[in-house]
Amino acid sequence: MVATPKKDRPRDSVFEAGFRGKNVLITGGLGFIGSSLALRLVPMGAKVALLDAMIPDYGGNLFNIEPIKDDVTINFSNITDATSMNYLVRDMDYIFHCAGQVCHIMSLSNPFPDIEYNIKGVAVLMQACKNFNPSAKVIKTGTRGQYGPSVKLPVNEEAPTNPRGIYEVSNLAAEKIMKIYNDVHGVRTVLLRLTNIYGPRSQMKHSRFGVVNWFIRQALDNETIKVFGDGQILRDFLYIDDCVDALLETALCEKAEGEILNVGMDKAVCFLDLVKNIIEVTGSGRWEFSEFTPERKAQEPGDFYSDITKIKNLVGWEPRVTLREGLARTAEYYRQYRQWYWDPSSNG
Ligand SMILES: NC(=O)c1ccc[n+]([C@@H]2O[C@H](COP(=O)([O-])OP(=O)(O)OC[C@H]3O[C@@H](n4cnc5c(N)ncnc54)[C@H](O)[C@@H]3O)[C@@H](O)[C@H]2O)c1
Repeated sequence: MVATPKKDRPRDSVFEAGFRGKNVLITGGLGFIGSSLALRLVPMGAKVALLDAMIPDYGGNLFNIEPIKDDVTINFSNITDATSMNYLVRDMDYIFHCAGQVCHIMSLSNPFPDIEYNIKGVAVLMQACKNFNPSAKVIKTGTRGQYGPSVKLPVNEEAPTNPRGIYEVSNLAAEKIMKIYNDVHGVRTVLLRLTNIYGPRSQMKHSRFGVVNWFIRQALDNETIKVFGDGQILRDFLYIDDCVDALLETALCEKAEGEILNVGMDKAVCFLDLVKNIIEVTGSGRWEFSEFTPERKAQEPGDFYSDITKIKNLVGWEPRVTLREGLARTAEYYRQYRQWYWDPSSNG
C-alpha cells in the first residue's frame, strides 16, 4: 500500500481524538490567534474557556467568536490578576497563552505594559498552574522578534537572541520563565516563536501591528500602500490556519514539551512582492516607495525568515496554505465583515 503523503492526511481527526472532551483555556481568547484557535477547538468537542481583558488598541473583538459565542465561556479579566488565574487554571488540560502586549511600536514609547502583561502575566499564570493544576500543559505564542537581527538565514532555534525592543525582550523573558516552570517545577510547556501571522480576525483598526492585514485593508479601500525603503527586506508570512494547526499539533505532541520551536513559512518573500500580490489578489489599491518612519527604522531587524526544520522533524507540522491563497481568504473575510473591524472603536 502507498502511504498517504503527509500533506494530505486529515489532521482534524487526529486533533479531534486529542481534544474531544478536554478542558482548554485560551488567554487572549478574543484576539486574532486565540479566537481562531477557539473556532477550531469547539467543533472538535473541546470545552473552551476564553480569558480576555479587552485592552483597547489590541485585537480583542467579540465578533471574532460570533459562530461559537454560545459554546464557550468568557472571563473578562487580566492575566495579572492572580485570584482569577488561580481559579481559572483548575481542571484545564491545555492552556494556550495568547494574551499579552502585542505592539512592538507601542513598546518603544511605553515599556510598562510589556513588563506588566508579558512578564508578570506569565509568572502569575505559571505560578497558578504550579499551585493549582501542575498537570496542565501550557503553550505559548512567542515571537520571531526574540531573535533580533539575523546572523544567518534561515534562522533556527540555536540562533543568538539579541532583540531590539522591549516587546521582544519581554517575550524572551516570558519564554525563559516558562522554561523554568517546565524544567524545575514540572509544569509542561511548549514554547513557540511565531513569525508574522496574517488572516481573518486580526485587528484592522490601526497600522501599529499586523502589517499584512493592514496592507490588505489599504488595498480593499483602494488606497496607496507605502513600501518602506526599497521593499527588498525578506520575511516569512504565515496564514492563521497553519498557525492554529501548529498550536494544536505541538500541544498534542509529547516530544514538543519543554522545547522552543519556530513556527514560520518555509518560503521568504520581500515586502514589495507581498504588496504586489495583495494588489493582484484584491484587484484594488496601488503602491509607492516611502522612507522608513523613525520608529520603524529603529526596530527594523532586516531580513528574517524562519528555519522550520525542527518543528517539521519533531512534530510533523508544516504549512499548507500558500501566500496567494492566504491573502485571498483574508481579503474575502474582510470584504464580508468589514463593519466589525474598520471602525477605530470596533470590538464587536
Ligand atoms: N499576530 C502575530 O503576527 C504574532 C506574531 C508573533 C507572536 N504573536 C503573539 O501571539 C499572541 C497573540 O497575538 P494576536 O495577534 O492574537 O494579538 P491580539 O491583540 O489579536 O490578541 C491578544 C489578546 O490578548 C488580550 N490581552 C492582552 N493583554 C492581556 C492581559 N494582560 N490580560 C488578558 N487579556 C489580555 C487582548 O485584549 C487581545 O484580545 C501575543 O502574545 C503576540 O505577541 C503574534
